Amino acid sequence: MRIVFSLGGSILAPDEIDEIYLGKAADFLRKISGRHSIAVVVGGGAPAREKIAQAESGLSQAAYDWIGIKATRENAKALKEKLGDSAFPQIPETLFDAQKRYGGKILVMGGTEPGHSTDAVAALLADWVSADLFINASNIDYVYDRDPKKNKDAKPIRNMGFDYIVELVAKESTCAGKYPLLDLVAAKTIQRSRIKTIILDGRNLENMENAVEGREFQGTEIN
Ligand code: UTP
Repeated sequence: MRIVFSLGGSILAPDEIDEIYLGKAADFLRKISGRHSIAVVVGGGAPAREKIAQAESGLSQAAYDWIGIKATRENAKALKEKLGDSAFPQIPETLFDAQKRYGGKILVMGGTEPGHSTDAVAALLADWVSADLFINASNIDYVYDRDPKKNKDAKPIRNMGFDYIVELVAKESTCAGKYPLLDLVAAKTIQRSRIKTIILDGRNLENMENAVEGREFQGTEIN
């Protein structure tokens, strides 16, 4: 299968880069790359948010985005280095370069340009390479019908259609360093190209492997 992952910075770098998780994620990716073509788009996590917060005030949103992009590329570099020879040696900086390289060694990259999060980069890459599966791995176990942090009775949703995820995320506000759940560009991309998508907690790598291999898993499937 052709698979594109969006690996949330929230799990790779909840504070600084989590070396233990990085090692386990690299093992997982190496293992499944024997059977599947893989690209991983890495998020910025706490380092991105800290650098955006520490930057001088009054910059444009695009300038703050650019600080975030550089942080995502640093995280991508850390994962690529952990993967060693299993990874394509360069970190593509554009979707055009990424789609050209896809299909050989594990492709690792961060952000591309301002205006969206790495979820959008991953969804657009999934579209471009006609991926069979897009996996959005962050620190949430399911998509809920309401924000579970604010609503105790929020219900997890196991399966949903593309229109529903677009409707859900369209209500959320976004700015540099802050894209909750999935950004609208990503949601619209999977909707327009009908890309099978799974949203799950990427900290549980066994569960993620189950999702990849078509076994029972915890998470929300969108198709
Ligand atoms: P993330 O993709 O990590 O965004 O990129 P996020 O959703 O805010 O954070 P996670 O997934 O919880 O870690 C970090 C920031 O970098 C900028 C955005 O400002 C984003 O919030 N960015 C990233 C871009 O502007 N373009 C990109 O292609 C990627």
